[in-house]
Amino acid sequence: MKKIAIFASGEGSNFKAIYEKIICGNIPAEIPIVISNNPNCGAIFFAKENAISTLIINKSRYPDSDSQDIILEETLLKAKVNLICLAGYMKMLPKNIVANFANQILNIHPALLPAFGGKGFYGMKVHESIIQSKVAISGATVHFVDNQYDHGPIVAQEEVAIEKDDTANSLAKKVLTIEHSIYPEVVKAFCENRIIWVDNQPKIEVVIEN
Ligand code: GRF
Repeated sequence: MKKIAIFASGEGSNFKAIYEKIICGNIPAEIPIVISNNPNCGAIFFAKENAISTLIINKSRYPDSDSQDIILEETLLKAKVNLICLAGYMKMLPKNIVANFANQILNIHPALLPAFGGKGFYGMKVHESIIQSKVAISGATVHFVDNQYDHGPIVAQEEVAIEKDDTANSLAKKVLTIEHSIYPEVVKAFCENRIIWVDNQPKIEVVIEN
């Protein structure tokens, strides 16, 4: 049974999608902790409603950024976390966490990376840029996390067609629906030890059941 720490700053719909798959027995994992910079976000409310421990880490609680990094590391080690899932987390992870959890941190991004990713491409800004650029296809990407925004090795991507009448809002909704299926799929593969590394690239091993 893997232990997953969720990091989220917003609504938490990706967290909820993963949690539901855990509860119904589809993903062999538990969520010992949900971490956020925002005490009043949907993800934290949902964690509390479901009796999941939470940690709020921000400047007003821990003014010194070194102590933030230490508390974060201590909390993850104490909870014996095997996997960190960034699910709409609006902060850069500190370097000590990225180093300690190499190939154990996943992120979901609402575009087909490497396009429309990196610093400044967050939230609705991603979808607004995509609509403005008039590309025909968008989608979602699940990737491992390194020290750069939206940069680490890609595990899975799924496309969505952009229609003429799509707006940033309608595109965000379409992409979110895809996110809710591909993120749990990748998390499931990780928890079942089905992510294998070939030439430094992660691949999902597909199990064919008779
Ligand atoms: C998602 O679009 C995700 O791709 C991005 O932030 C958004 C989070 O949404 N990183 P939610 O909080 O999971 O609903």
